[in-house]
This record gives sequence, C-alpha cells and structure tokens, in this order.
Amino acid sequence: MRSRNVASAAIAGLVAVALAACGSNTQTGDTGNANAPTTPLQTTSGGAGGDVGVFTWWAAGSEKAGLDALVKLFNEKYPNDKFVNLAVAGGAGSNAKAKLASDLQNNQPPDSFQGHAGAELLDYIDKGQIEPVNDVIKALGGESVFPKDLLDRLTVEGNIYSVPSNIHRANVVWANAAVLKKAGINEVPKDLKAWMADMDKVKASGVSTPLSVSGTWTQVQLLENVLIADLGVDGYSGLFDGKTKWDSDQVKQAVGDYKKLLSYANTASDGDDWPVATDMVIDGKAAYNVMGDWAVAEFNDKGKKQGQDWTWFPTPGTDGVFDFLADSFTLPKGAKNPGGTKDWLMLIGSAEGQKAFNLAKGSIPARTDVPASDFPAYQQDAMKAFKDNKIVSSIAHGAAVSLAWNADISTAVSKFYASKDENQLVSDLAAAAKKNLG
Ligand code: GAL
Repeated sequence: MRSRNVASAAIAGLVAVALAACGSNTQTGDTGNANAPTTPLQTTSGGAGGDVGVFTWWAAGSEKAGLDALVKLFNEKYPNDKFVNLAVAGGAGSNAKAKLASDLQNNQPPDSFQGHAGAELLDYIDKGQIEPVNDVIKALGGESVFPKDLLDRLTVEGNIYSVPSNIHRANVVWANAAVLKKAGINEVPKDLKAWMADMDKVKASGVSTPLSVSGTWTQVQLLENVLIADLGVDGYSGLFDGKTKWDSDQVKQAVGDYKKLLSYANTASDGDDWPVATDMVIDGKAAYNVMGDWAVAEFNDKGKKQGQDWTWFPTPGTDGVFDFLADSFTLPKGAKNPGGTKDWLMLIGSAEGQKAFNLAKGSIPARTDVPASDFPAYQQDAMKAFKDNKIVSSIAHGAAVSLAWNADISTAVSKFYASKDENQLVSDLAAAAKKNLG
C-alpha cells in the first residue's frame, strides 16, 4: 500500500494531468460511446438479496432528492435487495464523517459509503478500510465510459477503489436576478475587485448583506475560491505538493481579499448548513452565494427558475477554471452484504443511474456517454466547462487534501471567522500544510 505522502503527491500530480486530459473526453455526451460494454456484474436476477445499508450525508431537502432518484431505480432493478438509508445530515459530511470514522474504526462498516475522489479516498485506502472494485468498474465499461483521469483519482497500485456517481463544480457564484437588477448590475464582474464594487452597489440598493455564507466548511470553500482567483491554477495546485508556500505573498493577498469579502456577508453560526446561505439568495436577503452546484437542486426544490429568478457565473477571477470534486461509492472491508453492495455500485455507475441522479442533484455525470441534451441549461454549461476548462481540486470537498488536513484548515478558518486576524490565519494554514505534507 502506498504511503500517505506518496499518495498525496500523486494526487497533486494528477491535477496537472487532468488539466489536459479532462478536456479531451466526450463529456458533452452527444458523441458518447454507444457500444460501451454493459455486462451486468451480478448473476442473480433481481439482485443478491438482503439489506444494503448506504451511508451518505444526503439526508434532507434538495440533498435527498438525488439519493431518492437512485433509490427508486435501485428498488426497480434489484427487487431482491432492501435499501437501508444510513444518511447523517450535515452538508459536506460535516457530521457524517466523524460517525463514519468511528463505525469503520469499530469494524461496523455500512455496505457502502460516500467518499470524495482524490485525497480523501486515499485516506480510506491507506487505512485498509475499503476493497478494490475493479470488477464493477470493468463491467460498467471502464475507461470507455469513465474519464481516465477520474479513474486515476480512484486508483492505487492498479486497483480502483470506488465507483464515481457525479462531478460537482465548487467555484460558482449563485445570484438573485431581481436583486442584481434593482442594484443596476447587468454585467458579470471580471475579478474580485469588480465583484466587491458590485457588492457596494447592492448595499446601496438596500440589501445589507450582499454575500451569504454559512458554517465553517462553506467558509473554507469561499477561501478556496479566493485562493484560486489570486494564485491562478498553477499557484493554487502547488499548495498541495509544497510548490506554493502557504505563507507566500499571494496567499497573504488572498487572505486579505477573503477578509474583505466576509465584510460584505451575514454573520453565520458555526453549524449553519449550506441551504441557509443559498436560501438567503433565493429570498433576496443576499445577492450572492459561493456554493457548489448542488445549489441547483435547492433552486429547483424552491420552484425557482434559471434566468428568471437566479443566475450564475464562475467566481470572479476563476473564469476558465473548474474547481472539481466527485462523489464516489465504496465497498468497505467487512461489509455484511458485498453482493448487495455491488448491485448498488452497478446502479450508481450505470448510465441510467447517473442520468436520474445528476438531473436531481445539479452535478454532471461522471460517465461520458450520458447525452448532454438530456440536461437543463446549467448542467449543459457545466459539462462544457469540465471539458474545456482547467481543472483544480477542491479543498473543502476532499479532492485536494486528506481528511486530517481538511480538519486543520477548517479549524484555522473557524478561528479566523471569530478573530479576523489575517497573520494568524496565514500562520495556521502554513502550520497545517507543514504538519500534513511532512
Ligand atoms: C459535498 C458533496 C456534494 C454535496 C455537498 C453539500 O461534499 O460532494 O455531493 O452533498 O457536499 O452537502
């Protein structure tokens, strides 16, 4: 088994590889591989039978809509199996990950759990907590249906350790169309400075908190967006392999910009979940929210229409960049019903499953053979961006950093939210990098 540091370095390297190669897949879909192998893995018609306990953090509201779409199909395709929902509420796994860690530690694994492609998954692999699922990926069509770079992020020493369900974009600003109109804003700001000038206009129009934030992980995600804007693709990606110093002048500038952005935002409580912030945009209490594109599901849930009620743009300064994360599902070591798990993984990885799930979730299919024309405007744009843009890995959602490093960054960001001490945040971030990069 590869060591943590080697694995982290490999992931950082993959970011660069992904930049070029992701652009060459057929994510727009209409030219998808119609001849991809679809041989089912399981031989028992209707599924292996028994309970299949699936652990996610898609427990409520719009988060649950995607899971429900999968469960509906699972019940149809595998009537012998019984889906058992083990979801623990809290966006980004803010509560779920601790429960999962203790269940895995105590040898009480679920039959499958949600993990992020990249550094986070490597944690589970390094600890020997999950099994390879090469047979499932192969039966689904392997590299003929999944981008090679994505499979690389799930692979250690030739073994593939999970089945990706979707790809989310984390550098998106969601905006309330009416609030912008009232403030006289009709252009997309080109950089952070122009965006903050627009926030002044929003304030002048009577909305006191132009930007909305929620609890700590949403702040980490906002900081990550500012780091991408201020450091650029190479500078940002270098943060994860030691090439960019966390106490460099560019990071200091980013922390300064992040502090300025927070001065336009509401005061959040630590435990506020992301819908609190996204709903502020929906309700016109804020103009903007930086959130992953699971926000689309929230707009849909509240009956809001793109163009008429909401609009989006890449976080200013990050146009041409796709801040990437992917959910993927595992076969834990010691799972009680591995046959049932494989039924679940086959469903997650099927074209039908990916279409149903991603339509409800706001993300785009990890598979390259699901037609783009089956999706609404936002997702078609995201598919194009994933194909054309440069790809970087999300910090807040497990692609760029390990669980432990993410926890250290979150502690630093939470402390900063109270103190607003820029020097302290820079030195805490630098200490976290030193500790986790070795
Ligand atoms: C991410 C996850 C997404 C979405 C989001 C908000 O970590 O990958 O699918 O659930 O958290 O909870």
